Formats: sequence, structure tokens, C-alpha cells
Amino acid sequence: MEAASSSLQPPPLLLLLLLVLQAGGNTFETHIIGGREANRNSHPYMVSLQKAGTHLCGGVLVHQQWVLTAAHCLVQPKELLRLVLGIHVLGDPSLTCHIREVVLHPDYKPPPHLENDLALLKLDGKVKPSRTIRPLDLPRGHRAVAAGARCSVAGWGLTHQGGKLAKALRELDVRVMDARMCNNSRYWHGDITPRMMCLEANSSNQGPCKGDSGGPVVCSRGHVAGILSFSSKACTDIFKPPVATAVAPYKSWIKKVIHG
Ligand SMILES: *[C@@H]1O[C@H](CO)[C@@H](O)[C@H](O)[C@H]1NC(C)=O
Ligand SMILES: *[C@@H]1O[C@H](CO)[C@@H](O)[C@H](O)[C@H]1NC(C)=O
Repeated sequence: MEAASSSLQPPPLLLLLLLVLQAGGNTFETHIIGGREANRNSHPYMVSLQKAGTHLCGGVLVHQQWVLTAAHCLVQPKELLRLVLGIHVLGDPSLTCHIREVVLHPDYKPPPHLENDLALLKLDGKVKPSRTIRPLDLPRGHRAVAAGARCSVAGWGLTHQGGKLAKALRELDVRVMDARMCNNSRYWHGDITPRMMCLEANSSNQGPCKGDSGGPVVCSRGHVAGILSFSSKACTDIFKPPVATAVAPYKSWIKKVIHG
């Protein structure tokens, strides 16, 4: 691990290009539009996956040495990537870790039909839990969160369509949508598996977007219910709501990787 304190705002154009590349095209990326700035240290499990100081994706510390994120964020070789922990504002002094190991879900299907979009990243050392850096627990059961549940998502993704990344971490309240409705021909048209969660923001001009992929969906305090996976190109298209991978159905795999 290394302590990094470099300030890192690349030219916006370069940044957009990178984000589009890492997400494998225009359709499957997620940022937060709408929402609010999170309270400092209110998300001590939040991780920024970066390349050369540029934020690519979110992630969640789920163990002293492991981060859970979206598999589609791992387009680059792990040697080029860093995990930044314990930050609120991108570029602030932080704990920066190398990635020792990348474990993609064995049934991961890349875009355009993303499935099992999860990856576990092993840090090059164990973090000592503190006020600013602390793992988030896995869900209690093995079932995905039911429709209607209130959740929140967090990330440093774009705050406006075609805009810039957020400087400070943002969060947004969402609700879990009925999966059958989300899967119907007006919505995601069969792309939704039973191990995904569709999310609905309170108003039509809000939603996670580019740069939010890999970040957590939290529905009951202290537990990670989902990992943001994809949304529409427009990010706020109500017929293409943001979709997360539900974590509960993958608990056995996660535990096996972490403890095995
Ligand atoms: C949605 O907006 C209504 C009215 O502004 C508010 O009462 C409610 O708490 C909001 N729900 C969420 C999930 O943000
Ligand atoms: C969505 O539709 C596809 C294709 O019909 C189906 O395979 C899948 O299981 C459906 N998802 C849900 C959550 O029912």
C-alpha cells in the first residue's frame, strides 16, 4: 500500500473516453444524477477504483483485505489499477492500495448482456478498521431484496449527463422495482435475471450513471444488498432503470473466495 495525495483532475475529454472504454461501450455505465452529497465518513466502506489517478468505478470493502465491485470495471490489467480507500473528495489524501488478485465471477458475462457482474479484488495488505475505513457486512440471507424496498446508492459518478465526475461522494435514495415489470418489453426486455435488482429513483431526472458502476446499494443499514451494474446511455431513462447485481445470491461464492 502507498499513501497518495496527488490531486488528479485529468482533462474532461480524456476522462470520458476512459470511462466509456472501461464500461465496454455506451450502454452499460452508471453516475449519480440528482441525489445529494454524502456526509463525510458516512460510507467508510466506499472504495474508488482508479487508473493513473482517474476514478473508474466504485467498490465496497467487504473484508479487511477484499473489495467487491462490478466485473465489467476490470478491463485493465490489475497492475495499472489502484484502490483508494477512506476518501470523501476525489484527490484528497487517502490510503491507496495495489491489487494483489482479481477474481471475476466464474459465470460473468461481459456487455452487451451483462450477467453475474461481480468481481472480488484482493488488497496487497489488510486494512485496520477505523472511523474512515471499515468493511460493510454481506447481507444476512441468500435472497435478493424484495420489490418496494427503500435503498440508497452512492458514488463519484457524473452528476450531469455528459458532465464531470462528482468531486465529493454523492448518494441517492432509490426503491427496488418489481423485476417482472423491469424485464418486460417496455423496460429491459428480458435482460433482467432473477439475481439482479432494478432500481427506481424518486424522480425521473435522477439516477446513478457513468462512474458509479461497482458501487454499493444499501437497503438495510450495515449490509451491502447490491453492486451497481448498468443503466441506460441517458442514465435517467425511466424505461431503462439502473440495474444492480443482488449480492445475497452470491454469498457462498464470495465467502469461498475470501476464506478459501
Ligand atoms: C420521494 O419524494 C417524496 C416527496 O418529495 C418524499 O416524501 C419521499 O421521502 C421521497 N422518497 C425517496 C425514496 O426519496
Ligand atoms: C426476464 O426474461 C428473460 C427472457 O424471457 C428470462 O430468461 C428471465 O428469467 C426473466 N427475468 C426475471 C427476473 O424473471
